[in-house]
Amino acid sequence: MSEHFRVQGGGRLVGEVAVVGAKNSVLKLMAAALLAEGTTTITNCPEILDVPLMADVLRSLGCEVVLDGSVVTITTPKELNHRADSEAMGKLRASVCVLGPLVGRCKRAVVALPGGDAIGNRPLDMHQNGLRKLGAHSEIEHGCVIAEAEGLHGAQIWLDFPSVGATENILMAAVLANGTTVIDNAAREPEIVDICVMLQQMGAKIEGAGTSTLTVHGVESLQPTEHRVIGDRIVGATWAFAAAMTRGDITVRGVDPHHLDLVLEKLRMAGAEVSVLEDGFRVVQNDRPRSVDFVTLPYPGFATDLQPFAIALSSVSDGTSMITENLFEARFRFIEEMVRLGADARTDGHHAVVRGVDRLSSAPVWASDIRAGAGLVLAGLCADGATEVYEIFHIERGYPGFVENLRKLGATVERVSA
Ligand code: UD1
Repeated sequence: MSEHFRVQGGGRLVGEVAVVGAKNSVLKLMAAALLAEGTTTITNCPEILDVPLMADVLRSLGCEVVLDGSVVTITTPKELNHRADSEAMGKLRASVCVLGPLVGRCKRAVVALPGGDAIGNRPLDMHQNGLRKLGAHSEIEHGCVIAEAEGLHGAQIWLDFPSVGATENILMAAVLANGTTVIDNAAREPEIVDICVMLQQMGAKIEGAGTSTLTVHGVESLQPTEHRVIGDRIVGATWAFAAAMTRGDITVRGVDPHHLDLVLEKLRMAGAEVSVLEDGFRVVQNDRPRSVDFVTLPYPGFATDLQPFAIALSSVSDGTSMITENLFEARFRFIEEMVRLGADARTDGHHAVVRGVDRLSSAPVWASDIRAGAGLVLAGLCADGATEVYEIFHIERGYPGFVENLRKLGATVERVSA
């Protein structure tokens, strides 16, 4: 039975929401558990569909995985299966993160090409080139990335671009390599720091977490650990945009506000009053938002995952905004759905120009990925009438308790079964 959301436009969102662990961290931390024989415990995990899918991937490799609410326990055997080609692999992007740990531990990995959001071309050349520098032979054959090595050795690696996934895979292979690896132009996302912290607790020797140069001194073996996932900055930012768009007043807890410094500054420019709290922030918007330009870049730049919210906000702001997408070109497909809702927006290559309108108008719309889906719900909250948002399984991959949280903040949202 398919379900969709019916979102009633018009009201302000007011209240407090608690954000749990980051989707883009927990899945990688689960992959990192492959690096140590024994039982690793991960807490503050979001209860989203990608977590049981990742658990299935790890089970197919020989791990025992127990999911108990926000706690995931992974028991990794001495001998791992090196073939990760189960059905679950094709359903999420982060599954590719088992590549580095498998090469590190087994010296062999056959990993089915990952699935995940359809947000544009997502090649693996930097992952493979990094592993080749560490001494592995790597090819893509029959829909799988294959990497094999006699033994991995430290190397100097320069990434063409600070790719999150390539940094994670190379890092997780390098921690067990013989000698020192330097990854230059590494990604600096808070989720990378989170993995580094967990790997350090496991006994890895890593310097430079959170900078663009990661130095890894390989060790013989790692030990299992217990680790708490960092709060989901993308979910936290979603609520910040919801406050700005609905002229609301939302307090978000469970996120490090400094992970969102630039986002909160952009919302201040749009006219919001922002207070930074110890474990979150509060965004109050009293008047119509003012138009602001956004440019997506790797962290600490404005996250590409927040681009749909930038477009949704701009579509109801006073003035014209330019949004530039530098990472995933297909994300602008979101604009086609926004146009159904009456947005005045058009694209030219990497740029979108959005002229704010007084009010959006309700329409049936289709979510194409997690963030686009959440962006359509926020837009629906600013439209006249009831907006039907279809393909909501995308949204539920990234937002635990989304409808419940919206209702708590005063929104009228229904889950409709068809
Ligand atoms: C991760 C996030 C995703 C986020 C993205 C950028 C997960 C599961 N997903 O995706 O939500 O939008 O970071 O913050 O954590 N590239 C190459 N070759 C490669 C690897 C990447 O050309 O080998 C390119 C990509 O096409 C893209 C850019 O590098 O244009 C950034 O991609 P990357 O940082 O690797 O994103 P993901 O790790 O896939």
